Amino acid sequence: MAEVDRVIDQRLSSGVPLVAEVARYIISAGGKRLRPVLLLLTSRALGYTGNQHHNLAAVVEFIHTATLLHDDVVDQSTLRRGRATANENFGNPASVLVGDFLYSRAFQMMLDADSMRVMQTLADATNVIAEGEVLQLMNMHDASLSEQGYLRVIRSKTAKLFEASARLGAILTHSDAATEAACAAYGQALGTAFQVIDDVLDYEGDTHEMGKNLGDDLREGKATLPLILAIQRGNPQQSQTVREAIESGSLERLTEIAAIVRETGALEATRKAAAGEAQRAFDAAMQLPRNNYRDAMVVLASQLLERRT
Ligand code: IPE
Ligand code: IPE
Ligand code: MG
Ligand code: MG
Repeated sequence: MAEVDRVIDQRLSSGVPLVAEVARYIISAGGKRLRPVLLLLTSRALGYTGNQHHNLAAVVEFIHTATLLHDDVVDQSTLRRGRATANENFGNPASVLVGDFLYSRAFQMMLDADSMRVMQTLADATNVIAEGEVLQLMNMHDASLSEQGYLRVIRSKTAKLFEASARLGAILTHSDAATEAACAAYGQALGTAFQVIDDVLDYEGDTHEMGKNLGDDLREGKATLPLILAIQRGNPQQSQTVREAIESGSLERLTEIAAIVRETGALEATRKAAAGEAQRAFDAAMQLPRNNYRDAMVVLASQLLERRT
């Protein structure tokens, strides 16, 4: 991971000072670097001995960071990784344009791997993430969104990049189709669980630990799984309150909504759904050869359910 950070630092350079300034601002704020971790773990679990894994790990982190720059503009978020978002600090135009810089820098870097399969995987993932964000935009303020509709969004906007990161480990090692499918399934399930937990934490997390503002989802009228399940489980009045909050996107009754998702058992049921996905990730990891890296993949799947950051 230190080597990945070195590559990231080296490839952030630009002759245009504002580009490097904005990019460094968000990247140096940290972040869990989970997608690079996935790529390193899968490639090493499968015995990779080449020198592309650090470069491609930096590529997936750049793609992730570009999506965050754009996402915070779209979501009008003001806090990310414990500091003011780039849009808050530098404005929307700089955030959007530096996001574009990071996307295109990622594509320059992936050429180094000299592999059409790598290109295809990352081009597809980037495209699907964009679709997921647009799909979510279309679902805004829709209180009738189903669980399947919600899942479709998060598999696209979040799980796809996890899936691609894990798949790249198999591609780098020229693994057989079954092994590649196991890696992809692991990444997809892990990424889905990750986003489901993220949506729980928007109601019962801690701003300091998360480094972002709670209630952002409600403010946007996002029907995430805790709200979808609260509508299903609540009494008529509770369901109506949640529906109205999604439709209006008002934060006025955030405390009440947080109480409803807790009291109806919706948060617990949402955590259970995440645990189901984590189990799928576990099962997929068990198909890989046993070694320390594979074991770390297994540990990651269970730790993720307890995350607070
Ligand atoms: C944030 O991702 C966006 C989501 C998919 C919820 P992370 O929680 O991985 O963000 P950083 O990189 O650690 O800040
Ligand atoms: C993040 O989605 C997914 C992408 C960046 C594509 P969210 O909007 O749910 O995540 P946060 O809460 O801003 O991190
Ligand atoms: Mg957001
Ligand atoms: Mg968003």
